[in-house]
Formats: sequence, C-alpha cells, structure tokens
Amino acid sequence: MLRSLIYDRLILRLTTQWYAAVFQRLAPGATVLDVGVGTAGALLAHERRIRECGLRVTGIDVDRDYIHRARARVRAAGLEDQVELALESVYDHAGGPYDAVYFSGSFMLLPDPERALRHCAGLLSDTGRIYFTQTFQIRRSPLLERLKPWLRRLTTIDFGQVTYAADFRAHLAHVGLTIEDWTTLDEHRSRAACLVVARPARSDAGGQEPRHQHQRRVRNPG
Ligand SMILES: C[S@@+](CC[C@H](N)C(=O)[O-])C[C@H]1O[C@@H](n2cnc3c(N)ncnc32)[C@H](O)[C@@H]1O
Repeated sequence: MLRSLIYDRLILRLTTQWYAAVFQRLAPGATVLDVGVGTAGALLAHERRIRECGLRVTGIDVDRDYIHRARARVRAAGLEDQVELALESVYDHAGGPYDAVYFSGSFMLLPDPERALRHCAGLLSDTGRIYFTQTFQIRRSPLLERLKPWLRRLTTIDFGQVTYAADFRAHLAHVGLTIEDWTTLDEHRSRAACLVVARPARSDAGGQEPRHQHQRRVRNPG
C-alpha cells in the first residue's frame, strides 16, 4: 500500500502526460495492451477519453501492490467493462490481437527486452503498433548508471536501466521492428522524454526513414 502511494506521488505527474501523447493517436475503439500498468493512475487520468473513444484496455503488471491499487481505481471509475487488469508478466500474456501495445516507463525494466518485443509483436493486429514512452539519456553517464539501482532502494520504485537511444534502436532492429515515429516530448539537461512508435517491418516498407519531431515542450515534471 505504502509502495503504491510513493509510486503515485513520484511518477504519475510525468507519466500522465505520456499517456496523453499516446492516447491522442489511437483510433476510436482501439484495443490496447498496457504493459506495466502500475497503479493505473496515469491510465485512469484519461478515464474520460477511454470512455468517449470506447478504448478497450488490458493492463498487466508483475507488482501485486500496484495491481491491487489499480483494481480499486478501475472499480471506482466504473470502467470494469473497458479496462481489464491482470497480475502477470508480459512474457506470459496471451491476449490480443491489439491495435496498440504500450510500454510506458516499463520497457527499460525488462530483463530480456528483445524477447518481450518479439512476444508483443505477435500480439498485434494487422495494423497494430508498439508505443513506448520513456526517458533516454542523451550523453553517457556512468554516474547515473550506478545511481539508478540505489534510487530503487530509496524510493521502492524500480527505474530500470539508463537507456541510450542507440541501444534502444538496436533492440528494435534485432527483432525486425521499424521505427515509424520518434517524438521528443520534453528535454531536461542530458535527458529526453520521448514517444516512439514502431511496427513490424514489412517487405514493402523497407528502408523508410522514421519521422522525428519535437512536440511543444510540456512543463518539466521533475
Ligand atoms: C515505471 S512503472 C510505469 C507504470 C505506468 N505504466 C506509468 O507509466 O505510470 C513500470 C511498471 O512496469 C512493471 N513491470 C516490470 N516488469 C514487468 C513485466 N515483466 N511485465 C509486466 N510489467 C512489468 C513494474 O512493476 C512497474 O509497475
């Protein structure tokens, strides 16, 4: 319970904006797999949009406390018919097909990210996309690499590994995902919060350059 409260206090302001950036791209009625839904606070900050657009969301997480709080939130919002939650790891999830598989701050936590990508690519509908919102470190920072595991001890929140864009691109390329869009949502010193959209590479679309764009800068949540 305490862990969920700490999590909500420290994370939600930032990730609520990330969900907004993704949800505005989804078509009405889209089916969404939210990988690492957490306490569902960021998801349900968009309760109105979920309802109005008829989104169908499946949220999964490996953290029992977070899922417990997420379930209470979904019940309080009366969204049980549109938002389903499960205590399970992405590697074990067998639902779909999904129009969107969404990793919000969860991809850099996974022990085997490429296996997760391969698995999730197999859960997509024909026109489905994988969405990522997360922070990228712009310049190498050995200090931050060492600091992140300590942050977990301090806050109980797993912030995963420091992610560099080149490593991230390499993971996607290894599993045959093409980056369709890379939008910088915010920049702060040597870090950038980005939205990345990827799709399984198709033979007729090879070699296409992704769109890069900078979105209007949102207030720095730091
Ligand atoms: C930083 S939180 C992000 C939560 C939420 N998506 C948000 O943006 O507010 C990352 C979440 O990923 C979850 N997670 C870690 N490994 C996972 C796995 N293998 N399968 C599903 N979720 C996982 C963690 O428990 C945590 O709740």
